[in-house]
Amino acid sequence: TRRITVHDIAAASERGEKWPMLTAYDAMTASVFDEAGIPVMLVGDSMGNCHLGYETTVPVTMDEMAMLSAAVVRGTKRALIVADLPFGAYQEGPVQALRNATRLIKDAGVGAVKLEGGERSHEQIRLLVEAGIPVMGHIGLTPQSVNAMGYRVQGRGEEAAQQLLRDAKAVQDAGAFAVVLELVPAELAAEVTRTLHIPTVGIGAGPDTDAQVLVYTDMVGLTGGKVPRFTKQYANMRQVLTDAAKEYAEEVIGGTFPAAEHTFH
Ligand code: KIV
Ligand code: NA
Repeated sequence: TRRITVHDIAAASERGEKWPMLTAYDAMTASVFDEAGIPVMLVGDSMGNCHLGYETTVPVTMDEMAMLSAAVVRGTKRALIVADLPFGAYQEGPVQALRNATRLIKDAGVGAVKLEGGERSHEQIRLLVEAGIPVMGHIGLTPQSVNAMGYRVQGRGEEAAQQLLRDAKAVQDAGAFAVVLELVPAELAAEVTRTLHIPTVGIGAGPDTDAQVLVYTDMVGLTGGKVPRFTKQYANMRQVLTDAAKEYAEEVIGGTFPAAEHTFH
């Protein structure tokens, strides 16, 4: 088996096939999703909230991204692995973006990188693409800007919708192979999808994008507390782990684990 490439992804979208993307932050979980046939995995900077215990994605560092990206690559054989450039790793300009993206490609072994921003990031995207690094864009809600924008639906109203369309075109014109649309009205996401020739990847963007992405910890019911309305919980892993931990604890306290079959003499 060979890895899925950005060309395979483009071809699938041209055939009108929808494709699923999930985040992953460790080798073991990534291997499960790889064997389940998920074609594209994102080592998202959502690892900040979902894996590293930060409150937002903002504190995530390049060292953390590089380490967990390498783990996801090691855990997979087939999926295209996309890694986020974290906050502060590309805002200084294209040269900084290239240096950090190169690290994720060369040292961690990912197949593509993702960065946030449309018009404001098009120079960064262009330089990476010129250097041979496939780039996924990310517009609409961009969580690295939470301190400025908060977490709310983007692109509402005529002016904001026109800006989102300009951002989408800027990402495409800079050479990105796909673009994430996060938390935008479904009608606008559909319009962007019709307008662009590169695939759109929706999260909270309705059913008409070319692909969908979910944060895996939300999707499997591992996230504690409130999850966004746009996510769907396909399993209750939090309950599964809680039950397993409690049963193990009871058996240790009660002296029934380890039993004869777990014991060497
Ligand atoms: O970090 C992440 O998980 C993401 C997706 C929500 C697109 O950027
Ligand atoms: Na992200």
